[in-house]
Amino acid sequence: MRAKVTVVGSGAVGSTTAMRLVEQQLADVVLVDILEGVPQGKALDLAEAGPIGGYDFQLTGSNDYETSQGSDVVVITAGLPRKPGMSRDDLLLKNAGIVKEVTENITRHSPDAIIIVVSNPLDAMCQVAKSVSGFPRERLFGMAGILDSARFRRFIAWELNVSVEDTHAFVLGGHGDTMVPLARYSTVAGIPITELMAEDRVEALIQRTRDGGAEIVGLLKTGSAYYAPSAAVAEMVAAILRDKKKILPCCTYLQGEYGINDLYVGVPVKLGRKGMEQIMEISLSKEEETQLQNSAAAVQQLVDVLKENDYL
Ligand code: 2OP
Repeated sequence: MRAKVTVVGSGAVGSTTAMRLVEQQLADVVLVDILEGVPQGKALDLAEAGPIGGYDFQLTGSNDYETSQGSDVVVITAGLPRKPGMSRDDLLLKNAGIVKEVTENITRHSPDAIIIVVSNPLDAMCQVAKSVSGFPRERLFGMAGILDSARFRRFIAWELNVSVEDTHAFVLGGHGDTMVPLARYSTVAGIPITELMAEDRVEALIQRTRDGGAEIVGLLKTGSAYYAPSAAVAEMVAAILRDKKKILPCCTYLQGEYGINDLYVGVPVKLGRKGMEQIMEISLSKEEETQLQNSAAAVQQLVDVLKENDYL
């Protein structure tokens, strides 16, 4: 039987994700959105591309969660994107309300699904979805680390004029200005980048990675990135549905790992058919450890605001 994936939010990230999922032959896809006609129109358009793209998967657009019934995976992209000059955190309370309502509906119709949260501010939105759904952490996590690592890899490949395929990178922490790109664990053909470029160049690439989302927002002016974010979501869905056991950085609920408790933060995990199957604890230097704790503290601040406003 084919897998079923629901993508909530038919904006740029949601619809591009739907496209990648069917093009990668992964699942039937339901696009859900409150806007009348938009999910239906985009699903129909994607279905009509099937004969050219070579996919037979069902694409359904709906304003109703009943259509999403029994999904294996649900991707939450609903919410406002930021505008130039805004940080992801500026979206906190608006998107918390949206993610809360979406999660209530998903949980009712797909109680056994694996939920991947994409809406920003990502780490805080995972916290809202977990609190509303009561899902175990194995079945609820967020997309960010793969996107941030892909940006870091892209910049490394440009800097050294090598193939992106030879690059590997890890970005830990929250998906915000305090994210922690780990230079020591970022490599080209297995060689740490710290041995391949000067320290100030490493720092420049790290800073560009931290500002990666804002750089795109500044250029687009009317929205945020979606090609790279949707590629990252598709990699997660593929790892799950194909039971790949891939090690990927994902926003995960920590319960003591890395000395962090009851908080969603980006760390490397193993993704397979059961969802987040294992948290990989890598050893960090004193400085990396401090940066990760600072990043967790920034996420905790948002969580505290959510608590003050009765979202948690
Ligand atoms: C980004 O980093 C939208 O947060 C997303 O581009």
